[in-house]
Amino acid sequence: MKVRIAPSILSADFGKLADDIAMVVDGGADMIHLDVMDGHFVPNITFGEKMIGAVKKLTSLPLDVHMMVSEPEKYFESFAGAGASGMTIHVEAAPHLQRQLARIRQLGCWAGAAINPGTSLVSVREVVADIDLLLVMSVNPGFGGQEFIPASLDKIARARHMLDEFRSSAALEVDGGVSRETIHDVWRAGADTFVAGNAIFTASNPQVEIKALRMLCVETV
Ligand code: DX5
Ligand code: ZN
Repeated sequence: MKVRIAPSILSADFGKLADDIAMVVDGGADMIHLDVMDGHFVPNITFGEKMIGAVKKLTSLPLDVHMMVSEPEKYFESFAGAGASGMTIHVEAAPHLQRQLARIRQLGCWAGAAINPGTSLVSVREVVADIDLLLVMSVNPGFGGQEFIPASLDKIARARHMLDEFRSSAALEVDGGVSRETIHDVWRAGADTFVAGNAIFTASNPQVEIKALRMLCVETV
């Protein structure tokens, strides 16, 4: 399974965003993770369509848009139009999850479903056929730089099991507190896509950090 590293620009310096993006692109990032927060679903506000459009102009890497917003369907068209490659919505904010996921695919994007640490995997079981990506949150969303919740490992393993059981080829993404300390265990549990904000952008050399994270996703003896 290919390991994909997705730097979250939440921890980038917005004053020199173009430089920060170029740096992680050159460092081997596989996609750029954009954390959209609305101050309602999560207690923080970040950015929306304009930022997606700005980042789109800076890189040809896929844009992995993580929508921590209530009523995500209000933004599907504009985000897809701005250049989102994939849109991930939270099941906690999506009462019509199947329809919403189908709509994302209709717009030509990959469809992702995210679950908070307190949300059971059962909530996504019925829509496995409708997802291209399952995002298991390993922190409570809202802020970068939080500590990885250890109980996430067992959940990631169960998520892997569930996807395999359904013969799903959906990516299994983990977001929150991913660092040199945690990534190996997260990979062993079965994740293939790793979001990292703080670990990459506060590193003295973010490019080395991306490589270091990737190199930890191997079997050790
Ligand atoms: C948290 C966001 C994350 C965040 C990860 O609400 O969804 O993508 O940027 O940041 P780190 O890697 O710093 O935990
Ligand atoms: Zn995120």
